[in-house]
Amino acid sequence: MSDSYSLLILPGDGIGPEVMAEVVKIVDWFGANRGMSFDVSHDLVGGSAYDRHGVPLADETMARAQAVDAVLLGAVGGPKYDDLDFSVKPERGLLRLRKEMDLFANLRPAQCFDALADFSSLKREVVAGLDILIVRELTSGVYFGEPRGIHADDNGDNEGGRVGINTQRYTSGEIRRVARAAFELAMRRGNKVCSMEKANVMESGILWREEVQWVHDNEYPDVELSHMYADNGAMQLVRNPRQFDVIVTDNLFGDILSDAAAMLTGSLGMLPSASLGAPMANGRPKALYEPVHGSAPDIAGQGKANPIACILSFAMALRYSFDQGEAAAELERAVERVLADGVRTADLMGPEGGTPVSTSQMGDRIVAALAAG
Ligand code: NAI
Ligand code: MG
Repeated sequence: MSDSYSLLILPGDGIGPEVMAEVVKIVDWFGANRGMSFDVSHDLVGGSAYDRHGVPLADETMARAQAVDAVLLGAVGGPKYDDLDFSVKPERGLLRLRKEMDLFANLRPAQCFDALADFSSLKREVVAGLDILIVRELTSGVYFGEPRGIHADDNGDNEGGRVGINTQRYTSGEIRRVARAAFELAMRRGNKVCSMEKANVMESGILWREEVQWVHDNEYPDVELSHMYADNGAMQLVRNPRQFDVIVTDNLFGDILSDAAAMLTGSLGMLPSASLGAPMANGRPKALYEPVHGSAPDIAGQGKANPIACILSFAMALRYSFDQGEAAAELERAVERVLADGVRTADLMGPEGGTPVSTSQMGDRIVAALAAG
């Protein structure tokens, strides 16, 4: 039996194409060895798309992204494009993808590989075995709410004479859909969701808490749900992160908490992400997978980039788009084994030193670990 999946690969700029070349090796391996058939197409995004089309994401590319089972993106941007007009900056290509695909749930795992536990800013015994998933609402909240802006405000004794305004605004529907995503994910993991807001000081937080509870009580009563104020959540993440399984939170708190959680586990070169939207006709969610890191112009073109963040993003695609949880776990175990063997790209070298492997050697080692089973 063959399972067929369409995949659009957008390598982007800087180290994007370098790390993506290693992902392609992995995709080919699963195609050849695990009875999956991948219909892979490649296209341009970011600065490379601007160079070719004069825009960071061509309409044809957008249409292809809407039609495939999953989009896999490297990274965009670089000094060459810093002076471009805001409307055609490389990042706009990525923002257009997220917006038009309506990717409302951003998944950021924080997983501690045992071989790298000493890279954490916390003690090994606090982070060893850590495996949490932060689900951040991505398309609403204070980053989008109206009114917003900077206005003159010269009434009274306002030194400087201006006011800056942003609005935290959430509808019940926006909260319910991201809550559903979090409960669905929890059922495939530790069956536990912690929802974070500031219901003690924000009405939008009160609504958040009530709606998450509503979705729980009516649709997912068997998943364990707790609520926490986001500031306490930040403390708990640093004090005892292993108490969490899935954390669901809004756009702003999610931005901050996911970055903090990421550093519990070490290098930027290790961090994958997924952004999911509503289910398509075939039942699979709209999906974009990408490493958390950027285009790393300081090391681009030198074969130094760590491809693991991008490879683990493909593992997330296997799990969340293709329902191949076994294959995803197999890939994660191969990464773990290579790290346990002491194989390191330059970003993972500790103070004890050693000789780093190149981007492509790391990819080859992971393929070899897959093959060794
Ligand atoms: P960055 O993530 O590109 O780099 C930060 C530091 O981490 C650099 O020292 C870099 O060498 C290192 N690093 C990043 N990924 C690595 C990897 N896989 N292996 C080894 N080392 C790695 O962030 P920075 O420097 O702030 O931004 C550089 C460019 O990337 C900018 O143009 C920025 O706009 C863009 N960017 C793009 C993102 C995206 O495509 N999603 C996200 C963040 C930044
Ligand atoms: Mg951030």
